[in-house]
Amino acid sequence: MTSVIIAGVGSYAPQRILTNEDLTKIVDTSDEWIRSRSGIRERHIAAADEATSDLAIKAAQSALLDAKITAADIDLLIVATCTPDYPVPSTACVVQHKIGIPPHATCFDISAACTGFLYAMEIAYGQLLTGRYKCALIIGAEKLSSIVDWKDRTTCVLFGDGAGAAVLKKVNQPGVGIIGSDLGADGELLELLYIPAGGSRCPASPLTLEAGSHFLHMKGKEVFKNAIKVMETVAREMVEQHHLTFDQISLVIPHQANYRIIEALASNLGVPLDRFYVNLDRYGNTSAASIPLALDEARRAGRIKPGDYTLLVAFGAGLTYGSTLIRW
Ligand code: ACO
Repeated sequence: MTSVIIAGVGSYAPQRILTNEDLTKIVDTSDEWIRSRSGIRERHIAAADEATSDLAIKAAQSALLDAKITAADIDLLIVATCTPDYPVPSTACVVQHKIGIPPHATCFDISAACTGFLYAMEIAYGQLLTGRYKCALIIGAEKLSSIVDWKDRTTCVLFGDGAGAAVLKKVNQPGVGIIGSDLGADGELLELLYIPAGGSRCPASPLTLEAGSHFLHMKGKEVFKNAIKVMETVAREMVEQHHLTFDQISLVIPHQANYRIIEALASNLGVPLDRFYVNLDRYGNTSAASIPLALDEARRAGRIKPGDYTLLVAFGAGLTYGSTLIRW
């Protein structure tokens, strides 16, 4: 009996910190409003010459070190991001070249917004089980500061930059590692959170630039309601499918978008908040990077022990959503 385990994790956040107080100098907002509505105190912002791949590489190197392997051991690389270095080619190809993953590796990006890391994990899991790949590196990395409208106070206060990575390997041991995954999407709701221009439907032009349609547009209230509903559903399904109860889940790592969303989810599931890992106060919403960043911190902080069950649960633009159950 084989399983796919997380053999190493790593993360990285850019050096520059932008506090709520700093934001008050850019838009009409206050530390009190941002903290009370979202729980965010500060976020990391990449330098002008730092792209998503630069953040991804640092997180990847830390995950490789943690797994005690080198880039030469990787034959599958998946980068989950909605802020790629270029529209073409993939950020995975940039990372592959710069960290020395051999050319025979399969390298590609996936687009599932904030649920991207869970989608990447599910794809890598399936590919490793086929036996065609030996070792996968999955990365969630974002430079969201490059797609938010710094004049729009309803969005710019919520997001940050960062990256997280994990090394996945197949082992001959039953019942460990990735136990289950439940992913979904509801494309009917895509306009709740999207970038209207810059793609094939509405290519970039002076008009789209003028209208600011190349920035992230969000209907915050609707996203908020949907997020709680879908995360509760997939979290419950995952736990029930595996004949567990929430008492047996040592730690829930939710997508770090808004503290009030996490609070409502915890309350609806009847799980004490202290069993949810929360770091959004220091990073804001880093989309695909949010779960691996939190996972890396939680592990390094000793919040995850051998034998523990950890539940990852996310939602994002699409709207995509999902949950993944891991046993360490
Ligand atoms: N500072 C001060 N006031 C503000 C700000 C701000 N930064 N932003 C909005 N306001 C004002 C609004 O204009 C509004 O004023 P009005 O009542 O005079 O019209 C008032 O504050 C209330 O605004 P609401 O939108 O009702 O505030 P709400 O309590 O819904 O909180 C928030 C807004 C934080 C965006 C919330 O809806 C939310 O978190 N939604 C989910 C967003 C999310 O998670 N998105 C990402 C998911 S996917 C991904 O990660 C890519």
